Amino acid sequence: MESDSSSLWFCAVCSVFSFVFFSFTVLFSLFSLLIFVLRLKLWCRCEICKAFLTSSWTKDFDNLCDWYTHLLKKSSTGSIHIHVLGNIVTADPGNVEHILRTRFENYPKGKPFSALLGDLLGKGIFNVDGDSWKFQRKTASLELGSISIRMHAFDIVESEVRTRLIPLLSSVSGKQRVLDLQDVFRRFSFDNICKFSFGFDPGCLDLSLPVSEFAEAFDLASKLSAQRGLAPSSLIWKAKRVLNLGSEKELKQAIKMVNEFAQRMINQRREVGFSDRHDLLSRFMGTIHDDKYLRDIVVSFLLAGRDTVASGLTGFFLLLSQHPKVESAIRQELKRVLSATPPSSSDDRRFVSFDQMREMHYLHAALCESLRLFPPVQHDSKSAQDDDVLPDHTFVRKGTRVTYHPYAMGRMERIWGSDCLEFNPERWLKNGRYIPESPYKYPVFQAGLRVCLGKEMALVEMKCVVLAIISRFNIRVLNPYQGPRFAPGLTATVRGGVPVLVQQRGT
Ligand code: HEM
Repeated sequence: MESDSSSLWFCAVCSVFSFVFFSFTVLFSLFSLLIFVLRLKLWCRCEICKAFLTSSWTKDFDNLCDWYTHLLKKSSTGSIHIHVLGNIVTADPGNVEHILRTRFENYPKGKPFSALLGDLLGKGIFNVDGDSWKFQRKTASLELGSISIRMHAFDIVESEVRTRLIPLLSSVSGKQRVLDLQDVFRRFSFDNICKFSFGFDPGCLDLSLPVSEFAEAFDLASKLSAQRGLAPSSLIWKAKRVLNLGSEKELKQAIKMVNEFAQRMINQRREVGFSDRHDLLSRFMGTIHDDKYLRDIVVSFLLAGRDTVASGLTGFFLLLSQHPKVESAIRQELKRVLSATPPSSSDDRRFVSFDQMREMHYLHAALCESLRLFPPVQHDSKSAQDDDVLPDHTFVRKGTRVTYHPYAMGRMERIWGSDCLEFNPERWLKNGRYIPESPYKYPVFQAGLRVCLGKEMALVEMKCVVLAIISRFNIRVLNPYQGPRFAPGLTATVRGGVPVLVQQRGT
């Protein structure tokens, strides 16, 4: 009897709770809807938000980054506010310095960004702030700064160029066989970054251009993680993730493959030993004993070093195909450097040495110039921890996303002068020597405390490729004057690839 009445009581209390909870949920949803409708009305009064919501900007621009560039050019401050995205976008060097250096602590990557890439990158350097970032930054800076790892990276790149890139281009040379140069560079950089990070060679650039399951899983995982950012609300992809539906299901499977692969690599290293190996994983295994953390660190490096280098090279060859004079100037510089300083005997197999490359100021300037116009990372966002005011007087409310935009900055007359749209390597040279620009004016590798750790390595890799190709081949881009249309993603990628014909020089 007693238990009956207590269960009745229990049911009654539960019903009241359910009713209150249900009413609260309905009220909350109605309230949120009301706020959303009010905001929508407000946004629709803002021309930029209206154009964004209706996609009307696509009538005049091929790419979102071109539309943003147009808006930033028109803005008196050099910043714009896309209210509908809660995002302030800036192309002002003073603001960039403020975000990346002066008030660095107020502008971490923040939760919204780390949530997007969290399943793929875990606690890897790319995706964390605070102490975890500081620890990885310090360890990775020590590793990447060492001469031995730089030489190791140079050896890897040189071998990939000699044994794969040149044979592949030779095999299609003069045969009217169209090659997708962007795909070639993506394969090239994936082989390199895997060898560098894991000491594993996926062989993506072998003559048969094989399909690599790991490369495909990695690409899919980064593409789908980036696409989460396109959803109007994070609730959408989070709900799909809980229910294991559609793209989230695919993403889960792709990440599982990446994880299994990374774990196999870690297990192999443990079995055969890692103390005498040069790859990044082996180096980190000396200090870190948690397999999950090791995986996260190395996967961040794969993401950082893969598409960026391929994208930089693709942009460079697109510009070179429109500027034959720049191509001949690089050839002349190579000839001059090779005849002035014959390589030492240890460099015999390399056709150009590390030191000779350092003498090539024009080549360096040409690469910086192409990265100015086609930065691989077109924009990058931080999240404001507290209210702030930017140097151009833009007010930033706590929680706002603040984005600096290297692509737009490279096209700003107020930064680069009236010839800002021209591909002109000379702008980086004084009396034939390369003069660097302020990194806040040119944040292609980011700047300040989180500046890219692979910048030097990336430039050496790109130089090796450029010299190897232009000294042996003429590359003809099939539609050189057609402006690229970019595919959405973390790194600039040309939609549909870059079809080229290859001709051996002197044939
Ligand atoms: C042309 C090639 C490259 C470009 C344009 C580039 C650009 C960038 C940019 C813009 C960032 C900041 C990203 C962010 O914080 O959201 C970054 C960070 C980073 N990059 Fe690069 N990168 C390139 C190549 C590489 C390579 C080859 C490696 C490694 C081997 C690398 C390693 C890193 C790492 C570890 C970070 C994170 C630094 C930190 O958060 O402290 N990058 N890079």
